Amino acid sequence: MTDKSLISITDFSREEILRIMELAAEFERDSSQQTLQGKIVASLFFEPSTRTRLSFESAANRLGASVIGFSEPGNTSVTKGESFHDTIMTVANYSDIIVMRTNLEGAPRYASEISRVPIVNAGDGANQHPTQTLLDLYSILKTQNRLDGISIMLVGDLKYGRTVHSLIQALAEFGARFTLVAPRELELPQEYKDFLHERGLTFVETTEIGQEIGNVDIVYMTRVQRERFSDTMEYERVKNVYVLRNEMLAGTRPNLRILHPLPRVNEIAVDVDSNPKAYYFEQTENGVYVRMAIMSYLLGLK
Ligand code: CP
Repeated sequence: MTDKSLISITDFSREEILRIMELAAEFERDSSQQTLQGKIVASLFFEPSTRTRLSFESAANRLGASVIGFSEPGNTSVTKGESFHDTIMTVANYSDIIVMRTNLEGAPRYASEISRVPIVNAGDGANQHPTQTLLDLYSILKTQNRLDGISIMLVGDLKYGRTVHSLIQALAEFGARFTLVAPRELELPQEYKDFLHERGLTFVETTEIGQEIGNVDIVYMTRVQRERFSDTMEYERVKNVYVLRNEMLAGTRPNLRILHPLPRVNEIAVDVDSNPKAYYFEQTENGVYVRMAIMSYLLGLK
């Protein structure tokens, strides 16, 4: 019985990540396995979401589980002053696993320390988004036939982008080569650079996409996270700093794929959507199989 929480991607070893990849492939081949029959999944979204919430709920339904929860905390007793602690203690009595998203960094970790059921972090502020990373890795594996030694360019909001933080830590396990493209204001936080240095991994930082796009296997575009800025003027200055256009993909590697955790605002022009190298909508589908794998694994049912 595993029965553990998933709060940060570093909670999973390389072997566990590979196990999730295997399970996701198994669920993709046969998505009718009812491994969570009789279980109740609580879906607590204190922050907006389309993909993460709906793909978790789709995954739970496919696995035969029932889903309870909320996507609008304004309709809960939080509005009457109930604490986060009391909310988690209560929901843990109603469910077998809790999937939660919040803007409070560290709140899922705290929840995992007080909950008697596993907690899955579906995104906490600018900190971590480990389930997105697992579906990103599955997308990389499917398109590149490997995880080891890939060359990846991460573009956009590397400061507040939680998907980037988790993905860099995961790919460090697989010896990736990183090109980090961000304006100075949105560069990768020092703790993640230290993480790479400690593992002997090199990375290049630049403010331009430039010619390096021709030397990578994956371009990972990200949205500038408007909701994390305290200064609106600063957001306005950087919001459209990178726009990937179809013509920029000429001369890139045949195996190049464009990933994006979505939602997109302006950072990928719609003319890229029909390019065979665009993979971001397939990536959303992969989220269902990966989340089926994650819940089954954490509950020790696979
Ligand atoms: N990728 C992602 O987390 O999307 P949502 O915010 O729509 O869940």
